[in-house]
Amino acid sequence: MRTLKRKTKIINFLDDCRKKELSIGFVPTMGALHDGHLSLIRKAKEENDICVCSIYVNPTQFNNPNDLEKYPRQMAEDIILLEEENCDVLFAPENEDMYPENDEEIVFEFGELANVMEGKFRPGHFNGVGTIVKKLLDIIKPNKAYFGKKDYQQLLIIRSVCEQYNINTEIIGCDIIREEDGLAMSSRNQRLTLKQREEAPYIHSILDYVSVMGRRMRVNDLKEWVAKKINSNEEMKLEYFEVCDANNLSIIDEWRNSQKAMGFIVVNMGDVRLIDNIAF
Ligand code: PAJ
Repeated sequence: MRTLKRKTKIINFLDDCRKKELSIGFVPTMGALHDGHLSLIRKAKEENDICVCSIYVNPTQFNNPNDLEKYPRQMAEDIILLEEENCDVLFAPENEDMYPENDEEIVFEFGELANVMEGKFRPGHFNGVGTIVKKLLDIIKPNKAYFGKKDYQQLLIIRSVCEQYNINTEIIGCDIIREEDGLAMSSRNQRLTLKQREEAPYIHSILDYVSVMGRRMRVNDLKEWVAKKINSNEEMKLEYFEVCDANNLSIIDEWRNSQKAMGFIVVNMGDVRLIDNIAF
């Protein structure tokens, strides 16, 4: 695997690939890689000639300085995992290349999409995500880019960025990869205490139940039930549980048959924030 840190280096390398008519698949990450990330790498490998992964902990998407500081960084281990997957290129830029001095701030207009859930609870988060993903797509210019449905709202935000800026990359949404006990894989899981890690699969078991039984309850009653269940676990504090239309994330307060509904949850365990979702 080729590891490139400088923007100019990767631009030149990928220009050469394009001249040879090689297709490029891209997986942006913030590192501390796990099987969820690697499933995207595998898909990108399968569907393209060249697979590029980026590792960059993007400061502008963290609204909480403590979360940014504690975000796990383990480049040496990540490189081994990527090599095992035969990833072709790792782009691991420094802040000076991604946010040079005098860089003009981009302000996105996502409308309703950014007013709910992560947009509401993490002010500025999606502007930061949009900024870095736009910068990365402008550098890599991939044919396809791969994103996990674990961050479902992020996936829709990125589709919106591509539409707004006429970015010619196909955005592929990939299924959530879970631990055997159902916990959605996340770089943040390694910050859970043993006790918290033992309890954490409860989140998915609640979602599982909700996806089967949810439509038998009124939406508001369902939300109250989820809040009561999660908050009754001593290790957990519910940040939100929301039922939304999968297409545009508009909030659903009454069931309609035509809607493709999804349930979205964020639970805090100590200072670790866990996100998950499920289709109804
Ligand atoms: P990060 O949290 O590192 O995730 C990188 C990609 O892996 C995202 O598309 C995320 O949805 C996906 N992913 C994480 N856990 C997953 C799981 N259990 N199953 C399937 N996919 C999973 O998301 C980001 O980084 C950043 O916001 C980024 C897009 C890189 C911009 O900085």
